[in-house]
Amino acid sequence: MSRRLSVTELRKRYGDLPVIGGLDLEVAPSEIVAVVGPSGCGKSTLLRLAAGLDTHYRGEIRVGDQLVCGPHPAVGLVFQEPRLFPWLNVADNVAFGLGERHGPHAHALVRDALEAVELTAFAGALPKELSGGMAQRVALARALVTEPQVLLLDEPFNALDAFTRMRLQDHLLAAWTRYRPTLLLVTHDLDEAMYLADRVILLGERPARVVDVIPVAPARPRDRRDPTLAALRVALLEALHLARDSRLVTA
Ligand SMILES: Nc1ncnc2c1ncn2[C@@H]1O[C@H](COP(=O)(O)OP(=O)(O)OP(=O)(O)O)[C@@H](O)[C@H]1O
Ligand SMILES: [Mg+2]
Repeated sequence: MSRRLSVTELRKRYGDLPVIGGLDLEVAPSEIVAVVGPSGCGKSTLLRLAAGLDTHYRGEIRVGDQLVCGPHPAVGLVFQEPRLFPWLNVADNVAFGLGERHGPHAHALVRDALEAVELTAFAGALPKELSGGMAQRVALARALVTEPQVLLLDEPFNALDAFTRMRLQDHLLAAWTRYRPTLLLVTHDLDEAMYLADRVILLGERPARVVDVIPVAPARPRDRRDPTLAALRVALLEALHLARDSRLVTA
C-alpha cells in the first residue's frame, strides 16, 4: 500500500551552508512527482533526508502519518549508480534489500521484483556480466523488493545512453504499475520528467525551495512526441532559466 509523502518547512544546513531553505512538498499516494532544479541546489540532500539517511534537519518529513526519523523499509532509494555487490549474483543483490528476511516468502518477493524489471533470466548472473542498464534495473528491483510505500530515485538513469534511458523509463513505469509506490524522482532530463511525472516540481537556486509546480496532464502511457509535452518542456525551461545549464540533457 502506498502512502503520502509530506515535507513541511524543511530546512537543512551543512555547517554555514544553507542547502534547503523552507521547502514544502506533498506527493499523493501512488503519484509520480519529478523534481528538477539547478545543479547543487539540494535535490540529493532532499532525497537523503526523505530516506531517513540524515536526520539533522528542521521541519517535518512524514510517510503517511509517520515521521521519518531514520532509514525505514517503507521508503526505498535508488541512486545514480547501481551500487551492487560485485561478489553477489543478481538475485542475492536484490535479496540484500530484504535484510534479515529469508525463507519462501523472501524468495517470492525477490522473484517478483526480478520479474518486474524483466531480469528473471539473469537471477544467477554476476554484476560484471550485466550492461549498465541491466545493473540499474537490479538496483531498482532491490529497492522494490521490500514493496516500499515511497520510492525515491536520484537521477537513476543519468549515466545511461539516451536509448537505454528511454527503455529504463518504461521499465520504471511497468514496475510502478505493479507496485504502485508513491514516487519522487530527481532528474536533470526534462523529457524524462515530462514522460513520467504527474507533476514536475521546480526548485530554485540553493537553498532549495519550490519555485513552481507544473502539472503534466496527458494520461499514461504517453507519446514522447506529444506536442503538449513539448510545450510544457519549453515552459519548464523558461521557468528555470536553465537553457545554459551545461548539465541539462537536451537530447
Ligand atoms: N555531506 C555534505 N557535507 C557538506 N556539504 C554538502 C554535503 N552534501 C552536499 N553538500 C553540499 O550541499 C549542496 C547541495 O548538494 P546536493 O548534492 O543536495 O545538490 P544536488 O541538487 O543534488 O546537485 P546535483 O544536481 O549536482 O546532483 C552542494 O553545495 C553540496 O556541495
Ligand atoms: Mg544530486
